[in-house]
Amino acid sequence: MNQHVTHSADASTVEQALDSGNYRQAVIDSEGATAVAMQNTLLTPRFYTTDFDALDAVSVDHLRAEWDALLGRMKSDPNKGHFKKTEAWDEIDWDGMEPKLKAEFIDFLISSCTAEFSGCVLYKEMKRRGKNKDICELFSYMSRDEARHAGFINDALREAGIAVNLGFLTKKKKYTYFKPKFIYYATYLSEKIGYARYITIFRHLEAHPEHRFHPIFKWFREWCNDEFSHGEAFALLMKTDPKLTSGVNVWWIKFFLTAVYSTMYVRDHQRPAFHKALGVDPDWYGQEVFRKTSEISKQIFPITLDIDNPRWMKGLKRMQKANADLARHRENGNVLGRIGASTRAALAFVSLYTIPAVPNEVPADTRLEPAY
Ligand SMILES: [Fe+2]
Ligand SMILES: [Fe+2]
Repeated sequence: MNQHVTHSADASTVEQALDSGNYRQAVIDSEGATAVAMQNTLLTPRFYTTDFDALDAVSVDHLRAEWDALLGRMKSDPNKGHFKKTEAWDEIDWDGMEPKLKAEFIDFLISSCTAEFSGCVLYKEMKRRGKNKDICELFSYMSRDEARHAGFINDALREAGIAVNLGFLTKKKKYTYFKPKFIYYATYLSEKIGYARYITIFRHLEAHPEHRFHPIFKWFREWCNDEFSHGEAFALLMKTDPKLTSGVNVWWIKFFLTAVYSTMYVRDHQRPAFHKALGVDPDWYGQEVFRKTSEISKQIFPITLDIDNPRWMKGLKRMQKANADLARHRENGNVLGRIGASTRAALAFVSLYTIPAVPNEVPADTRLEPAY
């Protein structure tokens, strides 16, 4: 049954969302935006593929109670109909927006839309290929949610005369292969850090509404609750096999934590006008998001990063500076400069990675509620 709906917010399934009116409209894309979304650098959102058969073989039987509680909530679909414009959506004067802010904000929207859609594509593929009832059900709910999120961001972009051609991206963007365990670490973290990012902005703007320069931020609370549940699901998937969070894999976990945190820091520092308009200091914002994410990730990871170590902020700043230099040298075609800056970025990463981690006793009960 694939009934046509006008808007992805009202869709019950991912297929319905991708076939909805606002998705069809997005086919008429703006080349520039799609080109930005097509980029594959260390800092831009990627599309992933994995060993779907291995994922399909996962049994959640010994976690049945926790699993059913989580899936029951997802099935009840509290956010159906939420991700579309209502009367709370204020009119935006895109032409009057300060050009630097406009450029950075559009970049933020395009990269968020790509990241949401990347989740949608991966989850939808798992749903399509799987035979395991539990896994298919989970991935159908998660792909439905991400399709709505991406669709809503595309609505916001369309007002600025921009749309990302998501159908084109699905076919043409390069897919990076990750083993299931790396999908778990990367996706778990991106869901939880997504929650922490959205809720931190939401709470900040609740206290300082004068900085809310675009209405989409009003939707962030329900949004981040979706991401929170998605993260819960990956925590449970990791719990099915204790090996995933012990032994040599702890080094992988530390690697992903360091990579995800430092990428976010560098990325955010590329948008000074955007953060200034929000009234947010990106250093404060970064640390706040890392603190929340670390606190949450104690539900499943046996370590957290020591973000209060003096080497942490120093390393992030070195990495950010090296990346800024790298971008400049790339533009000028300065090959030696590029090699130098890449080496400095790599060394900064090593220095961050070698900061001793903080051990954590993982609780028997994984389940968490969004508490921020
Ligand atoms: Fe999402
Ligand atoms: Fe998500």
